[in-house]
Amino acid sequence: MAKIISVGKGHSKYNVIIAKNALTKKNLIPSLKNKNKILVVTDSGIPKRYIKDLKDILKGSKKVYIYTIEKGEKSKSFSTYSKILEKLADLKFDRSDAMIAFGGGMIGDITGFCAATYLRGIDFIQIPTTLLAQVDSSVGGKTAINIKQGKNLVGSFYNPIQVLISTKYLESLPDHEYKSGMGEVVKYALIGNKKLNNYMQLNSDAIKKKRLNALEHIIEESIKSKAKIVTSDEKEKGIRAILNFGHTFGHAIEAFERYKGITHGAAVTLGMIIAGKISFYEGHIRSHQLDNMINLIESLGLNTNYSKYKFNDLKKYILNDKKVSEGKLNLILINQSGSAFITNKYNSRNLKKAFD
Ligand SMILES: NC(=O)c1ccc[n+]([C@@H]2O[C@H](COP(=O)([O-])OP(=O)(O)OC[C@H]3O[C@@H](n4cnc5c(N)ncnc54)[C@H](O)[C@@H]3O)[C@@H](O)[C@H]2O)c1
Repeated sequence: MAKIISVGKGHSKYNVIIAKNALTKKNLIPSLKNKNKILVVTDSGIPKRYIKDLKDILKGSKKVYIYTIEKGEKSKSFSTYSKILEKLADLKFDRSDAMIAFGGGMIGDITGFCAATYLRGIDFIQIPTTLLAQVDSSVGGKTAINIKQGKNLVGSFYNPIQVLISTKYLESLPDHEYKSGMGEVVKYALIGNKKLNNYMQLNSDAIKKKRLNALEHIIEESIKSKAKIVTSDEKEKGIRAILNFGHTFGHAIEAFERYKGITHGAAVTLGMIIAGKISFYEGHIRSHQLDNMINLIESLGLNTNYSKYKFNDLKKYILNDKKVSEGKLNLILINQSGSAFITNKYNSRNLKKAFD
């Protein structure tokens, strides 16, 4: 049975459908009923059979164009962005047409940004194919591209009209990409979703083996957590910031590594342990809670060792974070009751100590 979760409010409300195979005519066609042309944006790493399935579903009813870009974060660029816009213009797309983002977070972000800005906004659908995109980037309406000064510096908040999550796509996902998404799932468990936390403690083996019912459960719980937060704070003016738990340190690790050799989720996982340690040194959680957190992460086969990263090496990246206001870094920490909060009241020595 497919799970349906509603996200957002008012005109920008949309449904997220989660199933082994959510990409069916029944799920997709009603959302496109008034559309004439569809541009599907995908990348060279997405298995061709998935694209064929999508074409088969759309066959007959619409004019469908597939635009494939090179896989990898490098493609989330201004030059790819303008090429996609030119393609839309050459094909004479108007507001009665739509786009489909068919891939991981890279594809979702750039396609969403094209949809947000072409003709001041045309509709788009997210069909995420990585775990990270399924539990995180496809929901919440953040779209972006990178410029040489930094990642995601150009973008907008723009909701899709629908998100279709098929867990079967995860079968072909490389192990390191699966683990990357798992880092974000752990995040929801740590920032307040106790049901998810308990489930993950008890079912780490099934999760590691990608059992379908386990996947559906953790994706559903992750989306429920994200949906609740982004619906109450669409443009990150407050509570939404807790979704960045572990990200200040994770981003610093990614930047230090020049975005090579470590996935976003793996870096965020280490960042969450650092933030967990600061929470402990600040007296917000007890030592057994810190141990439980690290044990959970280890039981899922994720790396917990960040000894190669020294505070002095990461410092400049940490202080570059968007969460610095008036010279002081706002930290997202966790407390004893298992929820996250944002604070600039902490002893800076504990920040350094977390790296010792
Ligand atoms: N908008 C948001 O809220 C948000 C949140 C988190 C991350 N992001 C962004 O997401 C991006 C990272 O996303 P990602 O981790 O999904 O990486 P990605 O989109 O680069 O995909 C990783 C790799 O997996 C391949 N792939 C995708 N699906 C596959 C499948 N089913 N089988 C086999 N291979 C497959 C892709 O071709 C690619 O090579 C970054 O750009 C990041 O900034 C956005």
